Amino acid sequence: MPEDMSAEPMPEQMRRNTSIISAEGLGKSVVGPEGTITILDDLRLEVNPGESVAILGASGSGKTTLLGLLAGLDLPSTGRIHLAGQDLTRLDEEARAALRARLVGFVFQSFHLLPSLTAEENVGLPLELAGRDDPARVREVLAAVGLDARRRHYPRQLSGGEQQRVALARAFVTRPRILFADEPTGNLDQATGGQISERLFALNREHGTTLVLVTHDQALGRRCHRLLRLREGRLFEDAAPIRTAVPA
Ligand SMILES: Nc1ncnc2c1ncn2[C@@H]1O[C@H](COP(=O)(O)OP(=O)(O)O)[C@@H](O)[C@H]1O
Ligand SMILES: [Mg+2]
Repeated sequence: MPEDMSAEPMPEQMRRNTSIISAEGLGKSVVGPEGTITILDDLRLEVNPGESVAILGASGSGKTTLLGLLAGLDLPSTGRIHLAGQDLTRLDEEARAALRARLVGFVFQSFHLLPSLTAEENVGLPLELAGRDDPARVREVLAAVGLDARRRHYPRQLSGGEQQRVALARAFVTRPRILFADEPTGNLDQATGGQISERLFALNREHGTTLVLVTHDQALGRRCHRLLRLREGRLFEDAAPIRTAVPA
């Protein structure tokens, strides 16, 4: 990516208006049996619309916690998060759920499909929750992930890769502006995982869907516009994500 050295840093207010995700002073602590544990400490993050951002970090570094906060699934202990200009930390549970339904898709490492629903019922759920049932759209996204023929199958009748494709279809059926994916290929073999990541990048490329991807896969990370690393609850940005030699 070309560097524009002449660019002035954007004033805070302006940046907040243009970023699709903006977090500052973000912290998360939990109280456990041995006292308070700080999971995330004073993070700052700005993501522009249409960007793809990879978050890498050792197991336990806080990646899942961070994604949950950015997606509005959980509330931070300190700091603010704006999604498309709306301050998540000022919304109640119901308003946050509505914002998520309108704006966000989420893919989990372990698929999180409802076992008692068929593929098409799982995919249709976000539309149903948003009050816009649309069987044709469900068929369309299932076909896009190559599973039209499996639409009546239950999760237990599908392979891991197929289940994750259903989960991916469910995540983008509402055409979300932001897609969060938490190690979406972590439970899949390389070839199957490759199909999932290709689909994620295609959504980013073709629809401008902002992609925030947690991964252990350095190669996957380097394909994103930006590569961030979490270390002990703090966030670092790699200066040159396209370099091949990245220290572990
Ligand atoms: N609700 C919780 N209560 C206590 N500890 C938690 C909770 N959620 C996460 N943690 C701890 O916070 C750290 C970061 O967890 P997590 O965000 O899942 O990391 P990662 O996804 O990078 O593996 C871990 O040490 C984990 O045990
Ligand atoms: Mg995790």
